[in-house]
Amino acid sequence: MIGYGFMGRAHSNAWRQVRSFFDVPYEPVLKVICGRNESEVKKVADRFCWESFSTNWEEVVTREDVDVVDICSPGYTHAPIAIAAAQAGKILFCEKPLANTLSEAEQMLDAAQKNGCVHMICHNYRRAPAVSLARQLIEAGEIGNIYHYRATYLQEWLRNPEFPTRWRLDKSQAGSGALGDLFSHSTDLARYLVGEISEVSAMLHTFVDDRPVLNSSDRAHVDVDDAALSLVKFEHGAIGTIEATRYATGRKNFNRFEINGRNGSLAFNLERMNELEFYSDEGPNSGFKTIQATDKQHPFLCGWWPPGHIIGYEHTFTHTVLELLQALTEKRLPIPNFEDGVKNQRVLDAVERSAASRTWELVNR
Ligand SMILES: NC(=O)c1ccc[n+]([C@@H]2O[C@H](COP(=O)([O-])OP(=O)(O)OC[C@H]3O[C@@H](n4cnc5c(N)ncnc54)[C@H](O)[C@@H]3O)[C@@H](O)[C@H]2O)c1
Repeated sequence: MIGYGFMGRAHSNAWRQVRSFFDVPYEPVLKVICGRNESEVKKVADRFCWESFSTNWEEVVTREDVDVVDICSPGYTHAPIAIAAAQAGKILFCEKPLANTLSEAEQMLDAAQKNGCVHMICHNYRRAPAVSLARQLIEAGEIGNIYHYRATYLQEWLRNPEFPTRWRLDKSQAGSGALGDLFSHSTDLARYLVGEISEVSAMLHTFVDDRPVLNSSDRAHVDVDDAALSLVKFEHGAIGTIEATRYATGRKNFNRFEINGRNGSLAFNLERMNELEFYSDEGPNSGFKTIQATDKQHPFLCGWWPPGHIIGYEHTFTHTVLELLQALTEKRLPIPNFEDGVKNQRVLDAVERSAASRTWELVNR
């Protein structure tokens, strides 16, 4: 695995956990974890029980005892690592967004396909049980033809203008700001639950373009968006709004969507991730009801605790790794994979074009 930061820890946990709770014919072995700082990566390797550590990803992706390369590093590293790992014939598992640009994402997909690699992108929110349940209800026709998708992904961690800069605020490393970081999750859920987005009318905004550098008297220019907003049209006729920001004072990880159909509606908020709000014209018609998605028949819950013993954010990664292992067993591509990553990146690309042109832009030009 490349990257031992926030996501590296979540993925380490998922790989260790998946076989303890789910019936899979594979026993993941945590072979090598890679970072840039030797003493730090050593600490994480010890804590998460990795067999070895490295500070050289080129060496890691060609190791013979490595089958899966799990990419948890900043966006600018995704394409070179994934392409080298594809050329070495590895199974590719990559954090979102797939890359910093559409062109890089396409090159990653191309390399994976040319080398016959299994590939997957980690859009873990699909695998919150309540979100998977929403998809099941939509597929079963419970809310009917969809009219609206309304998504907000709100965080607050940048609202202090003196919060120091980091790689996420540097376009050369992150590709974009709230757009790739948060908005990309909402577009992935839009594609998963509603369908392909065909057209966007968007704006990107930066509130603070100059921030202190940590442990230094220097300051750094911020060249990514702080907030991304778009009107969207879907191929089959639904319309929507998507808003992502890191300046929503008081909001921590408010990843919410609401979907309104002809006969019913669904709403989800990650901050209450075990719950799905459901309105249906069927029955007593007394407004939205809250389904606690923790019963054994709900997606993924067969592996966990008795009903009501809720699960959390980290389990969405375990479920994502589970999908990868199940796909390997069934000799199919996992979902979502790099093709989804490219389609998602086309939406992000259209958002950037629309923000620049101040007009509606087609997603598939
Ligand atoms: N799916 C999610 O919910 C979710 C949440 C947060 C981040 N992410 C994604 O995960 C990725 C990493 O984000 P993060 O928040 O974990 O970042 P982070 O800054 O916490 O960690 C990044 C890690 O990458 C390592 N790294 C950087 N360059 C490297 C290199 N050249 N070689 C080896 N290691 C290198 C760093 O040492 C660090 O350990 C990004 O793509 C981000 O968008 C996904």
